[in-house]
Amino acid sequence: MALNVVIMAAGKGTRMHSATPKVLHKLAGRPLLQHVLDRVAPLAPARCVVVTGHGAERVEQLVGDAGTCVRQEPQLGTGHAVLQTVPALDDAADITLILNGDVPLIATDTAAALAAACGGQRLALLTVTLDDATGYGRIVRDGESVRAIVEHKDATPEQRTLREVYTGMMAAPTAMLKRWVAALKNDNAQREYYLTDIVAMAVAEGVAVVATAARDETEVLGVNSPAQLADLERRLQRRQADAYMSAGLRLADPARFDVRGALRHGRDVEIDVNCVFEGEVELGDDVRIGANCVIRNARIAAGAVIHPFTHIDGEAAGVQVGAGALVGPFARLRPGAVLGDEVHIGNFVEVKNATLAKGAKANHLAYLGDATVGERVNYGAGSITANYDGANKHRTVIGNDVHVGSNCVLVAPITIGEGATIGGGSTIAKNAPAGQLTVARARQVTLAGWSRPTKKKP
Ligand code: UD1
Ligand code: MG
Repeated sequence: MALNVVIMAAGKGTRMHSATPKVLHKLAGRPLLQHVLDRVAPLAPARCVVVTGHGAERVEQLVGDAGTCVRQEPQLGTGHAVLQTVPALDDAADITLILNGDVPLIATDTAAALAAACGGQRLALLTVTLDDATGYGRIVRDGESVRAIVEHKDATPEQRTLREVYTGMMAAPTAMLKRWVAALKNDNAQREYYLTDIVAMAVAEGVAVVATAARDETEVLGVNSPAQLADLERRLQRRQADAYMSAGLRLADPARFDVRGALRHGRDVEIDVNCVFEGEVELGDDVRIGANCVIRNARIAAGAVIHPFTHIDGEAAGVQVGAGALVGPFARLRPGAVLGDEVHIGNFVEVKNATLAKGAKANHLAYLGDATVGERVNYGAGSITANYDGANKHRTVIGNDVHVGSNCVLVAPITIGEGATIGGGSTIAKNAPAGQLTVARARQVTLAGWSRPTKKKP
């Protein structure tokens, strides 16, 4: 049965104390509203209508092609929010599912079950039973059947003892919903148009009202404050960690593991504590990641070892680490770093937009930027490619089997021929020929008969 989806996202989120609209705050690296959009997409709604208000322009930018936005100005309550969507709903879609932009973890299955419970004929409410129901709308029943939702602020002391609450999500027959929201009044404690008042309207008309229980509390939790956002983040991260572990990923501590994007992994992958994975990360078989690594947009091939405190950020260009490579501790791989098999990158080495062929090594305190490095090259401690002349970037090409001594400056554009050796401490500004030793530094002299100055007597 065809369906409309309404996502309410006009609220201010006062308790976030933030200039960013609430639904744009991030959970696992993605805006709250993005989670909701992604979770309803598989339902292939005829229309997906997002109600915007606070920070409307930024919210609308996020929605883009994923839905139609309608503005609610001013915000006079949830019923008023749904009223704004009426012209945008598809009448041919019998069911309208209403979700919240700040309830990000609603399961697609639950949303589908709620729509099915409506079936274009009944009003279906998603409910949950809480230990502490303070602040929520209570489900008031008469025997088994639902009679009304009473908002906390309007509830009698007796109704406040009810623990079954409305989650803020429902599915209604589209034509009835349109009629009901147009008839809402704001004669209540908050002077708002409550969407929840349509329950009593349905009951009065003899339309069946059914309650569908949420699968768990997590999928219906909303974000109103930084503390709730952090709580939801931990819950989501723990769920993700459990799913990765069931697929064989070995985590030293699932509570200290964060994925803000998509992580793919092979067999026998081990990850130590406090690692963060962002964007798209792929880890081949037998990869080991040491403690405290942050890795974003990277492909790490089989058997590579990333030692502790390594930062890999591929940004748009990506980073590739070859099979059996050793990286870190304290290494930094930036966009366009492409390490071949068995490459070694040691402590305090930065690599950017540079290709290192099989077996090349830069083990200590070095910079390789805009460079092409051949096989088995040994790049000494403290050496750098001077790739930037203040206006443009230039490339450094280092042939196979080159040995660059310590503390060298390779002034690009420059080519070091195959098998060349560059003496330590050289500033190389002209191409160095293959197979020979090139040194560019002041010659060492020892002065015979020199004596140290002595202190003058006053
Ligand atoms: C609502 C329900 C309550 C339920 C609770 C669950 C009503 C009247 N009450 O209460 O029964 O237990 O959610 O969390 O619906 N919004 C708009 N425009 C508005 C007002 C709200 O877009 O004018 C959006 C908010 O941004 C939010 C959602 O609607 O995403 C819910 O609004 P909120 O003010 O949080 O409703 P509650 O008082 O929590
Ligand atoms: Mg709320």
